[in-house]
Amino acid sequence: VNGTIVIPVVVNVIYKTAAENISATQIQSQIDVLNKDFNAQNADFSNVPSIFSGVKANVGVRFELDQIIRKNVNKTSWGTADLMKKSSGILPTSPTTKLNLWVCTIGNGILGYAQFPGGSSSTDGVVIDSRYIGTTGTATYPFNLGRTATHEVGHWMNLRHIWGDTNCGTDYVADTPTHNTANYGVPTFPHYSTCSGSPVEMTMNYMDYSDDRGLYMFTEGQKSRMLSIFSAGGARNSFAK
Ligand code: ARG
Ligand code: ZN
Ligand code: CA
Repeated sequence: VNGTIVIPVVVNVIYKTAAENISATQIQSQIDVLNKDFNAQNADFSNVPSIFSGVKANVGVRFELDQIIRKNVNKTSWGTADLMKKSSGILPTSPTTKLNLWVCTIGNGILGYAQFPGGSSSTDGVVIDSRYIGTTGTATYPFNLGRTATHEVGHWMNLRHIWGDTNCGTDYVADTPTHNTANYGVPTFPHYSTCSGSPVEMTMNYMDYSDDRGLYMFTEGQKSRMLSIFSAGGARNSFAK
C-alpha cells in the first residue's frame, strides 16, 4: 500500500565445482545491477539514443538480498526443465512474496530463463547460469554486466522479447519498435527493421539479445506492463506492500 515496490530476493546456489559456488560479493554485484537497471541509475542509461529519449523509463522497482542458500550436489548441468527447483536441487522459499533466483550450470549455451507471472508458485522465479551472474568472480564476457538477470526479471515481470519471438512479432508494448528478430553482439546504431514502417530497432532494450554492454533501457510501455502485475488483481499482487 506504499508506492515503491521492494522485492526480497532469495538466491539459491547449487554447485558441484568450487567455481559454481559463487561468492556473496558476486551475488551482491547482481543485486546492485538490478537496482541500477530498474531505477534508471545505470551509467549507460545516458547512452540511449535521442530518438528513444521520450520513451526511456525509470521502472522504480527495488531489490533486496533476503538470503543465500547453498547446496553441494553431484550434477554437472541442470537444463531448463526446472529440476534445480525440486528436491534434487533447492525448493523455492516463500515464492509468493520473494523472488527466488537459482544459480547453477544450465548447459546448452543457455544464459538464464524465467517463469512468467501466472505459473505454479512451486517453480516460480529466475534461473541464471553461474558464469553469467553479476559483474565479478566467474562472470564471463560479453555477459559479465549482470544484464542476463535484468532480462530474465523482465520476463518474470511479464515482458516478452522485443521481437515477439517471430519475424516482426509483437511484444504487446506500443512504444517499442517492431523488430525482425533477435539482435546479437552490439549492433551499430541505427539498425533498421524491415517490418512495417521500417523503424529503427531498439537494440539496446533489455528485452533484446544484444551483449550485456549493448543493453541499457526499458521503455515507459514496458514499465506499465510490469507494474500492472503488482496492482490489485495482478498476478504478482502478493509482492506489493
Ligand atoms: N534467455 C536468454 C538466453 O539464455 C538470455 C539472454 C540475455 N542476454 C544478455 N545479453 N545477457 O539466451
Ligand atoms: Zn528472454
Ligand atoms: Ca512493440
